[in-house]
Amino acid sequence: MSKPPHRLQSLIDRETIRKRVAELGREITDFYQGDPLTLMVILNGGIIFGADLARTIDLPLWLDSLRVSSYKGFGSTGRVEFSSMPKTPLDGRHVLLIDDIIDTGLSLQCVANEISRLNPLSIKSCVCFDKVEARIADGLPQADWIGFEVPNKYVIGYGLDADEYYRNRPDIAIVNNS
Ligand code: IMP
Ligand code: MG
Repeated sequence: MSKPPHRLQSLIDRETIRKRVAELGREITDFYQGDPLTLMVILNGGIIFGADLARTIDLPLWLDSLRVSSYKGFGSTGRVEFSSMPKTPLDGRHVLLIDDIIDTGLSLQCVANEISRLNPLSIKSCVCFDKVEARIADGLPQADWIGFEVPNKYVIGYGLDADEYYRNRPDIAIVNNS
């Protein structure tokens, strides 16, 4: 895949994302009823959403991360590679997995399987964007909290990249020449 410029078509603007993230934060705060929570941000895509969401959650919160990748260029490789694991103990803790987008669902399913071996009290997931139509049989069927459903197209911005570019865009856009 080439460097920018790509033909981009804005899909969801910054203010709409901000409002929805605040709603998700309220729902998550209400759900855990004051219990301690570990936000487990899946790097790199979950960084921007995770940072914004963390500040809308009013709970005793630990922030941790892990790194996986399943994508090369514009398509899923179908394999999920872990290159960094959580640093905090997860035993007996509520863990909320945070990712930018759920596509095939494979990454989140693999991460949930891996995290469940560490004996957490619960594992749930929250994604900013959901490509509902792209789910495969082996993938996590759905996330517990979803910001927005998006079409089954390649999108960038708000943490989502095209060859590492665009993660810093405050809105999300469809790449039309993908
Ligand atoms: P899944 O395992 O197929 O659900 O893919 C999830 C991961 O693929 C996400 O965490 C993203 O990093 C990446 N991904 C999926 N769709 C897109 C996209 O449209 N743009 C950028 N990255 C994507
Ligand atoms: Mg990712």
